[in-house]
Amino acid sequence: MKNDLDQFITGIPKSELHLHIEGTFEPDLMFKIAQRNSIELKYNSIEELKAAYNFSNLQDFLDLYYEGAKVLIKEKDFYDLTTAYLEKAQQQNILHTEIFFDPQTHTERGIKFKTVINGIYNALEDSKISTKLIMCFLRHLDADSAMKTLEEALPYKDKIIAVGLDSSEVGNPPSKFKHVFDKARKEGFLTVAHAGEEGPASYIREALGLLHVSRIDHGNHALDDENLVNELVKRKMPLTVCPLSNLKLAVVKDLKKHPLKLMMEKGLFVTINSDDPAYFGGYLNENYLAISHALTLNRDDIIKLAKNSFNASFLSKEEKMRYISKIDAW
Ligand code: ADE
Ligand code: ZN
Repeated sequence: MKNDLDQFITGIPKSELHLHIEGTFEPDLMFKIAQRNSIELKYNSIEELKAAYNFSNLQDFLDLYYEGAKVLIKEKDFYDLTTAYLEKAQQQNILHTEIFFDPQTHTERGIKFKTVINGIYNALEDSKISTKLIMCFLRHLDADSAMKTLEEALPYKDKIIAVGLDSSEVGNPPSKFKHVFDKARKEGFLTVAHAGEEGPASYIREALGLLHVSRIDHGNHALDDENLVNELVKRKMPLTVCPLSNLKLAVVKDLKKHPLKLMMEKGLFVTINSDDPAYFGGYLNENYLAISHALTLNRDDIIKLAKNSFNASFLSKEEKMRYISKIDAW
């Protein structure tokens, strides 16, 4: 039996703003798609694969994540992956979700950009929940590859709200992609970037100052720089925090030591997100539940976080108001 607060958490209307579609690839679907594409996985069974989900850091996880994505070949594979996530999201009372996809993970393997985007986009079109799509550049690859990807995306501009930056953070600062993001903004895309997950506070400063981001993904290391915290508070800059991801990738040692509550106390505009739920042990509700238990959050904290999740989204003012009134009525 769930207690009252747990029921409140699972039922409250919410939005998700930091979710990699390739990170929703559940082992059973991965095996099914591998089989129909006649691809041999490195692991003999679902159990063997799951046993490998034991990461010491971000790179450890990324190695496995890119390996799993190799079985995605056809438009239907991307459609099925996206549909499976959207069904879970709907069950969790997620009313709106802004989904990252990593085209280079696929185009580098010879899959066409249009295969990736059409598969994902058709699933969004068939879903009952509100969605937006964010195209991430892989920061471990060079800026030329990101620029080529941006050019490939231009015919699909109306289907992509923003560009982002993900993959191996340390050694790949936002400044590496300044020109790509300049062009992306000129073409009308909003911008976001992973920063301060494993990388230093200075990467968050670069994301703000050079990439002109509308949100910071993660942002944990902002807390190392008091002036930066003040700047983020002043700008009302959203941080898309991912508690179970932080635990599984050893960004925090223990959820009880997670900085979410401290961030809220400092007035930072934080949201809760699941990042790569198939790999990190839980979707959005599991993230809300785990962090509320660890930090003894109360009902007001949950309401604040759920409202933040809509206010920090790329929905219009009117849409935000409509969703927030659903929280008030809840
Ligand atoms: N790609 C998928 N998940 C990621 C994360 N947590 N950080 C950076 N890149 C990612
Ligand atoms: Zn992420």
